[in-house]
Amino acid sequence: MAKLCVIGSCSMDLVVTSSRRPGAGETVLGDSFKTVPGGKGANQAVAAARLGAEVTMIGCVGKDSFGEVILHNLKENDVFIDNVEPVTHRESGTAHIVLAEGDNSIIVVKGANDLVTPEYVESCASVLHTADMVLIQQEIPVETVAFVSEFCATHQIPLLLNPAPARDLEASVIEQATYITPNEHEAALMFGGLSTSEALRKYPNKLLITEGKQGVRYFDGEQEVLVPSYIVEAVDTTGAGDTFNGAFAVARAEGKSLYDSIQFANRAASLSVTKFGAQGGMPKRTDVEASL
Ligand code: RIB
Ligand code: NA
Repeated sequence: MAKLCVIGSCSMDLVVTSSRRPGAGETVLGDSFKTVPGGKGANQAVAAARLGAEVTMIGCVGKDSFGEVILHNLKENDVFIDNVEPVTHRESGTAHIVLAEGDNSIIVVKGANDLVTPEYVESCASVLHTADMVLIQQEIPVETVAFVSEFCATHQIPLLLNPAPARDLEASVIEQATYITPNEHEAALMFGGLSTSEALRKYPNKLLITEGKQGVRYFDGEQEVLVPSYIVEAVDTTGAGDTFNGAFAVARAEGKSLYDSIQFANRAASLSVTKFGAQGGMPKRTDVEASL
């Protein structure tokens, strides 16, 4: 069984569906409103746990009703929550999501996720030491990402960095991570001066660029490889990237090859988009295996 540690955001997603998104200064009538647990960290933790990994989450929530729902949901999904701290001085993180015109747009308010500091993570160091792989994203302070990559490199703990949402990263962080999984948009921001194929060649078997419906691209040391996506009828693509990351970590930590791990993760991600909500369609192990 793969042992994973996810360091990241735990949020509540406030999701509005509408036929059209409003422009600046405009009001439109929407169709529905739902609150569902999300946050890239929690999503990746749930994705991995559903696929059979033993997952410990390191994060912070507010001591409020959203925080309670978020913790309850993690527990229901068999994620260990001893290291998710309820705090009184910040509200739970929220993501304000509009599903319209076949795609989502999201504003994230970090709230308590901003308290996932290097000091806090350091206080949970024993969890990192026992992990087969650590996962981290960018809805927490930038210093925490730098701290964790340094820590994992020093202690030789494999680290999967999902650089979402995009922001400037120190070169050392890229060097220290074992895998980096930007989408095309994030990759363009991170490697501005380089073409996709130059960036891939610079980081063989490390940089995995997720290209949505196309698939996932990496350089294997000799050639560029595209692991194709599975084509499905998408209902809600929110959290597809998180499902990919969680599933990839499970497969890789279990010892599957890089290619097979990506294929497994592509399959999991494709199943996830067939249902509403970031975590709604995240598959169980048997669902993925039955469809591979
Ligand atoms: O990656 C999807 C997630 O990003 C959503 O669940 C939302 O919380 C946003 O932060
Ligand atoms: Na979904």
